[in-house]
Amino acid sequence: MPYLQLHDVHVHYPVKSAWGATGRIVRAVDGVSLTLEKGEVLGLVGESGCGKSSLSRAVMQLQPLTSGGIELDGELLSSLPAQKLRHRRPDFQMVFQDPYASLNPRFTIYSTLLEALTRRQSLTRSEREDAVAQLMLRVGLSPEHMYKYPHEFSGGQRQRIAIARAIAPRPKLLLADEPVSALDVSIRGQILNLLLKLTREMELTMLFISHDLLVVHHVADRIAVMQRGRIVEYGDAEQVFSHPQHPYTQQLLNAVPKL
Ligand SMILES: Nc1ncnc2c1ncn2[C@@H]1O[C@H](COP(=O)(O)OP(=O)(O)OP(=O)(O)O)[C@@H](O)[C@H]1O
Ligand SMILES: [Mg+2]
Repeated sequence: MPYLQLHDVHVHYPVKSAWGATGRIVRAVDGVSLTLEKGEVLGLVGESGCGKSSLSRAVMQLQPLTSGGIELDGELLSSLPAQKLRHRRPDFQMVFQDPYASLNPRFTIYSTLLEALTRRQSLTRSEREDAVAQLMLRVGLSPEHMYKYPHEFSGGQRQRIAIARAIAPRPKLLLADEPVSALDVSIRGQILNLLLKLTREMELTMLFISHDLLVVHHVADRIAVMQRGRIVEYGDAEQVFSHPQHPYTQQLLNAVPKL
């Protein structure tokens, strides 16, 4: 059975003007059906405004669906009552584009990561430090920095912290929405490789979102190409990258700098 299934998902927003509702709607996600097998990395690619983030927020249950359904490991998330949903939250976690905005600047790394650990209540102080240290090592950070604050780290290190927080509850599904777009080009590869290493080690299923086909090609097993709220091409990553069928995919590919 697939681990994540999107069934004809629609996310529409009402268009508002200064005078209130206009009666018009934006079809940000307009009938998307996708399937992710356990352990698979699906790359979702498309230009700015095509609906990628709306789709990922819908999967995270941060955005109500206009219609359709989202099924995680056989359970229809979109119809779960709030309390049951809270129970399942640890299973699906997200990494955002801007690690600085997504980390609380007043919390040390220790506090941020501790809060993300599901079993923290039963741990002693030294066990807590140990658990945080393990997480930091896992994402390539030195535990001696656990009492520092986000501003004391570089952009790449901050994204490592955000990734550590996302894997702390031992999720099964990871959503990464443009996780390297805000980072210096020179460190993007390291962060992508870290995400790949973690998906293998933790048997994560990952939905990886980017506007950059080259980045998606680097990490994904399969690629879905999104245009104006719809999936216009879907297939094996190598196949889509080397033999794109849809004109829009060819256009995205032409925008990729030649190596
Ligand atoms: N909360 C909202 N209310 C109204 N319209 C929205 C809202 N969020 C997104 N939109 C609109 O929905 C469309 C899709 O936006 P979305 O952010 O999902 O695209 P995206 O592919 O993630 O873009 P980007 O690459 O810039 O992050 C856009 O036209 C956007 O303006
Ligand atoms: Mg977005």
